[in-house]
Amino acid sequence: MTDRQKTRPRPNPRRAFAPSYGTILEEGVRRRTVLKGFIAAVGAAAFAPALKATKAEAAESTLTFPELKRVRDTTDHWPEGYERQILVRWGDALFADSPEFDVTKLNGKAAERQFGYNNDFTQFLPLPWGEKSSDHGLMVVSHEYATPFLMFPGLTAEDYREKMTEDQIRAVMAAVGVSVFEVRKDGNQWQVVKDGKYNRRIHMSTEIGISGPAAGDDRLKTKADPTGTVVFGTISNCNGGITPWGTMLSGEEGAMDVFAGDYTKPNQELVERQGWDEDENDIYSVSRVEPRFKFEEEPNEWMRFDWVVEIDPFDPTAKPVKRTSLGRMTHEGAQCCVAPDGRVVVFMGDDDDFEYIYRFVTRDPWKPNDRAANKDLLDHGTLSVAKFESDGTMRWIPLVAGEGPLTAEAGFKTQADVVLATRAAADLVGATPMDGPEGFIPHLGTGKLYVAMTENEDRLPKGEGDKEREQVNVANPRGPNPYGHLLELVAPGSPDKPDYAAESFKWDVFVLCGDPAKPEDQAMFHPATTSSGWFTDPDNLAVDPAGRLWITTDGPPPEGIADSVYVMDTEGPGRALPKLIYIAPVGSETCSPTFTSDGSSVFLSVQHPGELRMADNEDATSMEDAGTSWPDFKPGVPARPSLVVLTRGNNGVVGS
Ligand code: FEO
Ligand code: CA
Ligand code: CA
Repeated sequence: MTDRQKTRPRPNPRRAFAPSYGTILEEGVRRRTVLKGFIAAVGAAAFAPALKATKAEAAESTLTFPELKRVRDTTDHWPEGYERQILVRWGDALFADSPEFDVTKLNGKAAERQFGYNNDFTQFLPLPWGEKSSDHGLMVVSHEYATPFLMFPGLTAEDYREKMTEDQIRAVMAAVGVSVFEVRKDGNQWQVVKDGKYNRRIHMSTEIGISGPAAGDDRLKTKADPTGTVVFGTISNCNGGITPWGTMLSGEEGAMDVFAGDYTKPNQELVERQGWDEDENDIYSVSRVEPRFKFEEEPNEWMRFDWVVEIDPFDPTAKPVKRTSLGRMTHEGAQCCVAPDGRVVVFMGDDDDFEYIYRFVTRDPWKPNDRAANKDLLDHGTLSVAKFESDGTMRWIPLVAGEGPLTAEAGFKTQADVVLATRAAADLVGATPMDGPEGFIPHLGTGKLYVAMTENEDRLPKGEGDKEREQVNVANPRGPNPYGHLLELVAPGSPDKPDYAAESFKWDVFVLCGDPAKPEDQAMFHPATTSSGWFTDPDNLAVDPAGRLWITTDGPPPEGIADSVYVMDTEGPGRALPKLIYIAPVGSETCSPTFTSDGSSVFLSVQHPGELRMADNEDATSMEDAGTSWPDFKPGVPARPSLVVLTRGNNGVVGS
């Protein structure tokens, strides 16, 4: 666990959750057996004994807030008795000298001083750092991507690449990346502190270092950077994590979308394996103003993205660094934990169909009393990939050049070869292909880890398809899997000192998403789950200070349902019994719940509002036909991705 997490009040695992480590394992094996039988033939009822709870017992769930009823409309919804505040919207000022948001005048210079677009990873860091403040903190937020034709009037999905002005392209380049800013609560109102000394924007033009095994490699050298150690910009900043020393890790997820030109010019096989999509590239038209984003002009630039970037939010002058030791893939996030010996363990999902779950363990322990000593800790350590076995064991297979099948003959002479082609290395060692692994969170009371697989429509049912990787496997038991699932991982050791660096874990299926009322969905939730409480497409996961699991979804979900936020217990009578707590506006997903130390405020990022049309739930193609113009609802003002806060008005704990 991280220091940040240690500052949260922790539930007593024995009192609140009861199960011993042995019981957890026994339970796991039994449930897997049930699961096997279920997948073979029967209906959802087969799961009822496994979950062992009745509707009467469900009353003992620790959640007491009034559950929302499902609705899909142009605005957001939160429980009665709660208050919802918009803390900051795309284009709002982050500095005293930031220009007013005016979409008709937006350019790169203005956007560099404003909150960016499509906020994803969001983390509240109490100020002063290391203390438990719940009314003053630093907010670190990533901005995953931009959709120009929903941002600027007069553009459409068909013509925006040709029609965007250079100012608009530069504005987009500045609206992605990362925002760091101070926030303070006065009375019951949260506010951005515009002259906060840490306030900072990082974007597609920020100078960023490259370190680790691939730094200086010929394949990372460009005309602008003959050393292969400096890159301008970070892109596709999806989710992330916070290190124990308070730096932010940002996962670059899907940078290939930004590149243009003839993708067969560089290493075609690697470009394709990295997630090149014929229909989704050149999404910002950036190559028109910066030729380095065109393959023919700069054949190595694309290799300098899709890494994990480390950013020190407490030093606005510190150059961010891409840590190549953590591998190159479509990085969803980078969840940090600490092993009992002080080594830092980073869990990562590669968010694509049939991709893998990874882990990086530092070579050295971190130093709690010497922040500077941790500066390059992430440059040395072991990258591994997960293999799930049918006996309930999960093994971490090291991806180390020269070990096992990763030989020089196979193309892995050095560790640079491994990290530059991480997916290919993982293919060779026989890792388990997953259903779009995204959120990863440790539970501080039980030590268990939860992982979200969003969905995978392309996984074929057992017995179909001729390639091994197209078949269902023990940890991804449904083919196709349109609704996703949650896994529960148990590291060896005691619940309060799990050994996250151990070679093998135990694992189990925790939840199979879908509608429990439809046997064909093969869903598995607590039997008392309401018609509003079940969910599909789990993406980000968080655990609040009281030990409850928060799940955000990124669908689109089944017809008539909006992407939303759910909360549930992970132990006790309310285990796997989710309740709907927040509904996002049409077309949006909610990301990254993050809490004040006392649990009285939860911050939620609302990303891409209006991306789907209200009428037919299809992709919106212009600002004018976007599903909503939330949260301003003003003519001529587009929908604005925003960071919202939920409180209960009396400092009560949210979610309880
Ligand atoms: Fe950026 Fe995997 O969602
Ligand atoms: Ca995500
Ligand atoms: Ca997602």
